[in-house]
Amino acid sequence: MKVTAAILPLIASATASCLHGTSLLPRSADGTVDINSFNYTNTGGPLTWYGLDAKNSACSEGKHQSPIDIVTKDIDYAAANSVRFNVPSTDNAKFENLGSGLEVVLTNGTLVAGNSTYKLAQFHSHTPSEHRINEEYYPMEVHFVFENSNNAIAVVGFVFELSQFGYSTPLFDSVFAHIDDIATPGTYTKTGHLDFTALTAHLKSHGIYQYTGSLTTPPCSENVAWFLSTEPLPLNVQSYNAAKHVLKFNARYTQNALGQDNLLEVAASELN
Ligand SMILES: *[C@@H]1O[C@H](CO)[C@@H](O)[C@H](O)[C@H]1NC(C)=O
Ligand SMILES: *[C@@H]1O[C@H](CO)[C@@H](O)[C@H](O)[C@H]1NC(C)=O
Ligand SMILES: *[C@@H]1O[C@H](CO)[C@@H](O)[C@H](O)[C@H]1NC(C)=O
Ligand SMILES: [Zn+2]
Repeated sequence: MKVTAAILPLIASATASCLHGTSLLPRSADGTVDINSFNYTNTGGPLTWYGLDAKNSACSEGKHQSPIDIVTKDIDYAAANSVRFNVPSTDNAKFENLGSGLEVVLTNGTLVAGNSTYKLAQFHSHTPSEHRINEEYYPMEVHFVFENSNNAIAVVGFVFELSQFGYSTPLFDSVFAHIDDIATPGTYTKTGHLDFTALTAHLKSHGIYQYTGSLTTPPCSENVAWFLSTEPLPLNVQSYNAAKHVLKFNARYTQNALGQDNLLEVAASELN
């Protein structure tokens, strides 16, 4: 599904001027990207991801699937200073609407964790959060996806809490400032300046939940090293509403506890 760029500027600038009064130039999508075949609705949704492609078998058979409910009295915590997250600031990263979610493609960045050095591939967001913490969900969650030279994947995640005082995380205000430009699935734009210094400091100065799970989207590959900040990031209501308006709903349902049978297999055997 591709939409010609020509019809987008009018729509984008009209919406942008309501939400971002300081933006003087009308903005629009810069081009198109392929959308994912999976999504979160009807037959594209998480119950049928295996049905979309046999490569996705871990989605319905894996026993270490993400997201999970994090039980804080049982989960492991990363040892102090054992997770080193480093993403240099950028002026020009590609920001894509993949239909299944919004992704910033940025490969300048590293994660050192365990004995491994991983390279950043992209970061993206989910509304609502995918992980729960002691059963509680959060309005948004962001995932930074890293890969090492053996193709092992690590994800650094942050959940968000809305601030009643208008506090926010400027990095994500900057990311979501351009979200209306890519309201149409299959379009991309460029971010403006993004500075990761405060995010890095946040991760470093709070505890980190650590477990081994999976990708939360197809192909749901396992052996993914998860690192989730224990402290939610603040987000103001304006950024949240703007993001939710475009992201809509893109969270996989909470999976069975680590090591337990996949819920789809449990459900299938109960049906039989
Ligand atoms: C979700 O995915 C299915 C299967 O690919 C597709 O038929 C459907 O149109 C998609 N729905 C949305 C809202 O994107
Ligand atoms: C990545 O880093 C290189 C070298 O510092 C720089 O030239 C390039 O502009 C950076 N890319 C982005 C997207 O920031
Ligand atoms: C890292 O390497 C050291 C020395 O080889 C080893 O003792 C340690 O268990 C490794 N740690 C992890 C998390 O793999
Ligand atoms: Zn994700």
